[in-house]
Amino acid sequence: MKTHKALFLFSFISILSISACQESSDKTSPSGENTVTTPEKITTKPVEATEPPKVDRGARLFKRCGTCHTLDKDGRHKVGPNLYGIFGAKAAAKADFPRYSKAMKESGIIWTDENLAEYTKNPREFMPGNGMTFAGIRNDEDIQLLLEYMRSKTSE
Ligand code: HEC
Repeated sequence: MKTHKALFLFSFISILSISACQESSDKTSPSGENTVTTPEKITTKPVEATEPPKVDRGARLFKRCGTCHTLDKDGRHKVGPNLYGIFGAKAAAKADFPRYSKAMKESGIIWTDENLAEYTKNPREFMPGNGMTFAGIRNDEDIQLLLEYMRSKTSE
C-alpha cells in the first residue's frame, strides 16, 4: 500500500514539475531543445573563489593570540610578550618582559618556522613548564596561515 501511495505522489509531483518546466521553457524558447547547454560550456567556466583571502584567515586566527600578544613594532606587552621580530629570535629575548618562565629563559630555543609551528600546535608538549596558557592550534594548515600572517606583520 505504501508503495502505491508513494507512486501516486511521485507521479503527481512529476506532472506538476513537467508542467512547470513546460511553462518556463515556453517563455524562453519555443522549441525547448535549444536551451540545453553543452557540458564543455559548463566546465570551462572558472569557479569563483568563495573563501576569503588567506591573509584574512591568518588574521582571524591571530585574534586568539591577540588577547595576550601584540605584533606591531614597539607594541606593548600584555599577558605575553610583544612578538615583533619573533622569527629567528632567541626565546625570551624581550628584555623588558618581566614574566618569562624559567623554562622559556633556559630553553635555548631559536624561533625558527618549525619551532614556532610546534609551539603553536601544542605549547605544553613542546616546552614543558612554559607559562603560556594556550591549548594550541591542532590544524597544520591553520598554523601555516597564522605564521604567514604573523610574518607579514612583524616585517612591516
Ligand atoms: C593566555 C595568554 C596567551 C595566549 C592566548 C597566547 N600566548 Fe603566547 N605567550 C604567553 C605567555 C605568558 C608567554 C611567555 C611564556 C613563558 O615565558 O613561559 C608567551 C610566549 C609566547 C612566545 C615566545 C615569546 C618569546 O619572546 O620567546 C611565542 C612565540 C608565543 N607566545 C606565540 C603565541 C601564539 C602564536 C599564540 C596564538 C596561537 C599565543 N602565543 C597565544 C601568553 C599567551
